[in-house]
Amino acid sequence: MQSSKTELSFSDEILLGIPKVLPPQRPRIQELNHAPKRKEILSREEKKLAIRNALRYFPSAWHSELSAEFAMELEKYGRIYMYRFKPGYKMHARPISEYPAKTVEGAAIMLMIQNNLDPVVAQHPEELITYGGNGAVFQNWAQYLLSMQYLATMTTEQTLHMYSGHPMGLFPSSREAPRVVITNGMMIPNYSSQDDWEKFNALGVTQYGQMTAGSYMYIGPQGIVHGTAITVMNAFRKVLPKSESPNGKIFLTAGLGGMSGAQPKAGNIAGCITVCAEVNEAAATKRYTQGWVDELHTTIDTLIARTKKAINKNEILSLAYVGNVVEVWERFYEEGLFIHLGSDQTSLHNPWAGGYYPAGLSFEEANIMMAENPELFKEKVQESLRRQVNAINKHSEKGTYFFDYGNAFLLEASRAGADVMSENNIDFRYPSYVQDILGPMCFDFGFGPFRWVCTSGNPEDLQKTDEIALIVMEKIRDTAPEEIQQQMQDNIKWINEAESNNLVVGSQARILYADAEGRIKIAEAFNKAVSSGKISAPIVLGRDHHDVSGTDSPFRETSNIYDGSQFTADMAIHNVIGDSFRGASWVSIHNGGGVGWGEVINGGFGMVLDGSEAASKRLKNMLFYDVNNGISRRSWARNKEALFAIKREMKRSPNLKVTLPNIVADKLLDGLFE
Ligand SMILES: NC(=O)c1ccc[n+]([C@@H]2O[C@H](COP(=O)([O-])OP(=O)(O)OC[C@H]3O[C@@H](n4cnc5c(N)ncnc54)[C@H](O)[C@@H]3O)[C@@H](O)[C@H]2O)c1
Repeated sequence: MQSSKTELSFSDEILLGIPKVLPPQRPRIQELNHAPKRKEILSREEKKLAIRNALRYFPSAWHSELSAEFAMELEKYGRIYMYRFKPGYKMHARPISEYPAKTVEGAAIMLMIQNNLDPVVAQHPEELITYGGNGAVFQNWAQYLLSMQYLATMTTEQTLHMYSGHPMGLFPSSREAPRVVITNGMMIPNYSSQDDWEKFNALGVTQYGQMTAGSYMYIGPQGIVHGTAITVMNAFRKVLPKSESPNGKIFLTAGLGGMSGAQPKAGNIAGCITVCAEVNEAAATKRYTQGWVDELHTTIDTLIARTKKAINKNEILSLAYVGNVVEVWERFYEEGLFIHLGSDQTSLHNPWAGGYYPAGLSFEEANIMMAENPELFKEKVQESLRRQVNAINKHSEKGTYFFDYGNAFLLEASRAGADVMSENNIDFRYPSYVQDILGPMCFDFGFGPFRWVCTSGNPEDLQKTDEIALIVMEKIRDTAPEEIQQQMQDNIKWINEAESNNLVVGSQARILYADAEGRIKIAEAFNKAVSSGKISAPIVLGRDHHDVSGTDSPFRETSNIYDGSQFTADMAIHNVIGDSFRGASWVSIHNGGGVGWGEVINGGFGMVLDGSEAASKRLKNMLFYDVNNGISRRSWARNKEALFAIKREMKRSPNLKVTLPNIVADKLLDGLFE
């Protein structure tokens, strides 16, 4: 029997799962960014149930000691994270060969999990939260330990089933089946109020998986830089005459957290002045020291002075303001500073527990109030949203193009009674970035955030994959139709400059917007390169859930669907089931992600390319469905671009037969009803 877990090798510690000897109690690491205390939600009886639930991971001999500790965690943090069981080894993606495993998929998935929990990648690493304030990989460290052990011992005849972070176990399956099936946050619809989610999460029976957090596919802010760069570039194309560049023009926004931290970098790529407010000094400093934002300003006066100078000199620059974004909107108006583009990426999908900090309170005051006086905190958030919208409206009257960034800003602002509705009182007065930009320009054609991770951990492999992807994309561009030339051009530019943009945080990963043809051809070329040894270890393919087919979300991914079906979730469910029997190595489906629990159903996949003939077959079959499922649904909703894309695909692929819509003349309908 081991006396201390630090004596074990990394492999041994993984294989051990829950340690045989109770590890010593350990305090939280102060320097790390910790999740805010969750609000008190459980009754006395429910608290007992939460402890009973937590203790089922451990032998009864430990219960007396652990029950007191878990009760303390529950009272102090609102959740039971089981800090004591966090392993002593460094948390980061290792080269795949260092993982003890019986399957290449098992090793790859462990690598991806560790990347999601790496302190340089994760937002609250000790609380197992990767991004978005509450996007969890696991609910507690016992789940982590058990899952890693299962992944290490799993064979190609087994599948691991994950229930909101809890590994239900390994079940017999087959070589062709996914190695892991993940669900997160699935609730019975009638038990789906904000308080229900808080309660069942505190009880330890469900979690908010966000999108790529709970599916182990997060690759740091790079994943979002590309999408944000495309969005900002195209937004400027919308508001500027063709001859004008975005240089010296302002993009004002908020948030330097997990995903929002990509905004300044994307603004620099698009070539504008980005002004980004961030109320949490630690988050702002992290992005600054990582080189994701050029300058940090702690007073609004220096921010204003620097912005004016940048405008005068037509600069490309990104400025972080450590403070509340409401102040910036208001002061810029008073100073007469014209904002070309405005948006917001505070975490309004999670408004009452640290996603949005109200103006007029310091960061610390807000953190105390949300835990101790949640009702008052809610009022402050809503008051602040009304103030923010008032200022935005004033700018918009002067010509600012404001768009919702898929963070539920307009939704929460409308719930707060802010003036965000258009005249018909049904639509918002501002578009979402998917309605105006990403939907018609990318998703409807099948372009979405395809990504890959080089499991060797070797930057040279990543370089080679960039080169391969570039060659494939250029070849496709040469014969691509006019309708998608701009997208091809933007994506070629992106992959060409990706390495010099220094985007890697954590694993050796790359993101690239590509359509079905691009994804399949790039993946096939990677698989060949692994097979020939040009690339030294398998490649993991995946994508953001924020994509063509993976996500049903009426105010975001599917907000440019107008046949009523934007409030249904069949597409995401079909996607995950469809991918699972077409060769995905793992699949996931989540209730909640981005815009909030109950607001979206989203799914994703991971696929390991090991250079084999079987992988080649799997990738063609699965990637084809993974993209075309969404295009077909978008074309059935009568989206012009999707109709073009699916008809083109049917010509190329005789086995694809999609039901196409007939279009009704408006004038026929106009006379039908009084
Ligand atoms: N980047 C994208 O492409 C994209 C796409 C869709 C949705 N989103 C949404 O954007 C939101 C942000 O995501 P994230 O991962 O960055 O979350 P996050 O919680 O890591 O970051 C949000 C940041 O906003 C800061 N903040 C909150 N209120 C503020 C205020 N009033 N003024 C200034 N700063 C404030 C917080 O301190 C936090 O650091 C989420 O709701 C996400 O779903 C982003």
